[in-house]
Formats: sequence, structure tokens, C-alpha cells
Amino acid sequence: MLRPMEGGGVYDHHNEYQMRGGLLHADLIATAASEILPDDRRGSVVLVDYGCAQGRVSNPLIRTAIERLRRAYPDVPVQVYHNDLLTNDWASLFDRLRSEDSYLTVAGGPVTPLVSATSFYEPVAPRGIVDLGLSFAAIQWLSSPGPRGCGSALYFDQLEHGPRAEMARQAHADWTRFLERRADELAPGGRLVLDMMGVPDGGTAAGHQAWQLVRDICEGMQRDGLLEAARLDDYVLPVYERSADEVRRPFGEAIGARLRLEHLALVPVRSPFTERYRADGDAGALAVGFVGFFRAFSEPSLRDGLGLDDGAVEELYRRLAERIEAAAAGFVFDVHALTLVISRID
Ligand SMILES: C[S@@+](CC[C@H](N)C(=O)[O-])C[C@H]1O[C@@H](n2cnc3c(N)ncnc32)[C@H](O)[C@@H]1O
Repeated sequence: MLRPMEGGGVYDHHNEYQMRGGLLHADLIATAASEILPDDRRGSVVLVDYGCAQGRVSNPLIRTAIERLRRAYPDVPVQVYHNDLLTNDWASLFDRLRSEDSYLTVAGGPVTPLVSATSFYEPVAPRGIVDLGLSFAAIQWLSSPGPRGCGSALYFDQLEHGPRAEMARQAHADWTRFLERRADELAPGGRLVLDMMGVPDGGTAAGHQAWQLVRDICEGMQRDGLLEAARLDDYVLPVYERSADEVRRPFGEAIGARLRLEHLALVPVRSPFTERYRADGDAGALAVGFVGFFRAFSEPSLRDGLGLDDGAVEELYRRLAERIEAAAAGFVFDVHALTLVISRID
């Protein structure tokens, strides 16, 4: 079973970094929304947020899309599908929809929130109805964990040779499958505005250093009897940071006859943790802030994948905070958002 983000609203308390990334795309979303031509027979416009989590990042962006649409179509009904895994923290998402800044408060015709609680590697919405699909910081999550039997390697960039190639193949197959499902769902004229974690050409994965620390910590916890060697041997986090070429590749294959890649950019997202550390030199604060962010997206997967109990989970993140505080001046986690606009070929 794929694991969602940390529940109880915790992910949304720690996603300042993802928020920065998402907000960089407001103009692309506004432009795509201004090009929507509502289908008179259907009578409503459909937006989908794929991999929505608890909704903090996408709420202002969905709001931007609806406000822009309303300039030309003040009364058109809008349906917003929120898609994530069945185990997502849906209660926190609906709390947010009741807040003052919710996109539901935009004036004009009715806006209806809907939930599609399924994997985005499966159909999420009925065929041919999606006018604008959005997705932020989600598509780097693959459909299943990486190869087994890889020693203490935990992150895709720690794999070598055959296992590395196997995970790259899985990432390609998943990306192709995601696009096929979306091609089925897009309405004529429909568009997707997406981002996912990416690696610059010849560059280093954002998670390189942090996951190397986690690997060292897991090896230590195994020696201390807190983690089973066989669980570590068989687990690689289901995340893959693609290169721009890997993102382009399916558009030169069969899906290229159904979807057009209109825009692709690799956008650096400045780390709020590093920025603050450079300003105040507070290594402890860097460690606390970074580990809060890192734990919010990694804990459910590591707990499950490595078979960690509560004590072992606490110990892992305690050791990580300690290591980051000690390495503060040289600690790097620089995300690059691969940003895409994709349209349906009619
Ligand atoms: C890092 S969070 C990003 C959430 C949100 N879009 C944001 O920008 O803050 C990744 C989200 O993708 C979801 N996700 C991962 N794999 C998924 C899948 N196969 N289907 C649907 N959602 C998935 C996770 O559950 C999680 O909520």
C-alpha cells in the first residue's frame, strides 16, 4: 500500500517549502484557466488537483484559477476534484475548505468540492471532462517502492547499475501511465499544469545529502538492534527525481499523439531553511525546521517500509536532527521543480 503524508494536519504545518514551489506557478495556472472554454452541454467546468494532500498549497492556486475563469464566465458552475490516496488526511483538507481564504468563497456561480480517493495511476475522473488538471510535488512518488535486495540503499540516487536502471524504468512506466490516464480524462482543449521534483543536467538530486544521512543512521540503528537488516535490504523509498529528458521522453512515444508538451522548465525553489540559517546562523533551528518538513512527507513511508515502531521512528528523526545540526554550514537540500504545461491534442 502506498503511504500518504503525515496526518492530523501535520504535513500542512511543515510544507512552507512546497508552498514556495507551488506559488511559483500561479501565472501559468492563471493563463491556462483563462483559456478554458466551458462546454455548454456539460454545463460546468472541472478542475482536478492530483495528489492534493491536505490542500494548503493548492487552495490559493485553485482560487487563482477560479477567479481567472470568472472574469469571462462569472456564473459557470465549477467542480473541483481533490485526488489523493484513500488514506490521505481528508479531514484536514475539508477544514481548510471551510476557512476564510478558501477558494469556495470566490464570488459567482456555484463551486462544488469533490473527492476522488484513489491512486493517480488509475482513473481519477470520468473520461473527457477535465478542463484543468493541477499537480504539485506529487508525481515524483512512484506506484510502488524501488528494487529489493539493495543493501542499505534507501533513495534512488544511492542505487547503482542494474537496480538504478530498474528504478529509472519504473519511473518512466509510471510517468507514462500517469499521462495515459490524464489523456483519457482531459476535455477537448483541456490542460495540465504540473510540477515534480527534478534533477538539473549533470546535477545532484535534492535529497542526496539528507538521504545519505538517513542511510548512515539506519545502518547505525541496525547495529543497535532497532532495525531489521532484512527490512532495510528490501526497501527503497518510492520517490524518483527525474531529469528534464526523462520528463520529455514519453512525448516522443505513443502518448505524444494524444498530449502536447507546451512548456517545460526546471525552476530552482529556494530553501526557506537554508535562507534562515544564513541569516541567523542558528543550526538548531535549521535542524528542527528541516526535520519537521522532511518527516512530514517521509515518516509514513519509512515506518511502513522499514517496519519501525514508534520508538524507532522517534530515534531516527532525533538522530537526523543531531546530524543536520552538526553539519549545518554544509547542509544542502536544494529542490528544483520541473514545471510542465501539457495540452490535449484534439
Ligand atoms: C509532497 S505531497 C504534495 C502535496 C501537495 N500537492 C502539495 O503541494 O503540498 C505528495 C502527495 O502526493 C500523494 N500521492 C503520492 N502518490 C500518489 C498516488 N499514486 N495517487 C494519488 N496521490 C498520491 C501523497 O499522498 C501526497 O499527499
